[in-house]
Amino acid sequence: MLKLAILISGRGSNMLALITAIEEQNLHCQIVCVISNKQAQGLDIAKTHGIATKLIARAEYSSKHFHEIAVLKELKKHQPDWIFLAGYMAILSAEFVDKFEGKIINIHPSLLPKFKGLNTHKRALQSGEIRHGTTIHIVTSELDDGPIIAQSELFIMPNETAETLENRVLRKEHILYPLILSSLIKKHLEIKDSEVIWHQIPPGGNKLSSQKNNNSKIVSNTYLKLQNLD
Ligand code: GAR
Repeated sequence: MLKLAILISGRGSNMLALITAIEEQNLHCQIVCVISNKQAQGLDIAKTHGIATKLIARAEYSSKHFHEIAVLKELKKHQPDWIFLAGYMAILSAEFVDKFEGKIINIHPSLLPKFKGLNTHKRALQSGEIRHGTTIHIVTSELDDGPIIAQSELFIMPNETAETLENRVLRKEHILYPLILSSLIKKHLEIKDSEVIWHQIPPGGNKLSSQKNNNSKIVSNTYLKLQNLD
């Protein structure tokens, strides 16, 4: 049974999509804890599903370092195989990431490497993008960086607002994140030494070419682009 920890900061809709997928698809996975760095609606949702939750408020710690130590201590108690960030609004330090190298996954609401950081939908509209979407990637200590596992994209519509775009991207996220979890559980997707290997491509997916980092090292063998994921 795969043991999953989820880190959140807010409403937790992606977390709920993961919980629902595990429950409805009978996935061989147990969410061992949901941790939030602030008071969050998502904690209440997790509790109603009988999941252990922990509020470790960043505001109660004098530094990011001490906050991370508290989060690590809680994670250590639960021994997760994977840590999924689901709207966790904090940049993890290299020390933290090194403790779980290649085992921390993030979802970000843009087609990375475009629009790292905040206000991604507004920025995509302002820069006149034709396409936008969401990315799931392995976490490194760089903001919204690291080998890409999968992306799901959409076309920006005429008269689109940041709000309509956010809702459309969220719908994609709620399908894509559970798909990545189930692919890991079923071993259709393998992540080994921070390398992404797709053994079996889900319907609607296309494998894209290798990604290289600044040292020309291949950091992601294949990543997946999914269209029409509705
Ligand atoms: C999601 O859109 C997620 O991609 C984004 O925060 C939202 C959380 O919503 N994450 C980031 O921006 C991380 N850089 P949720 O709490 O309803 O899942």
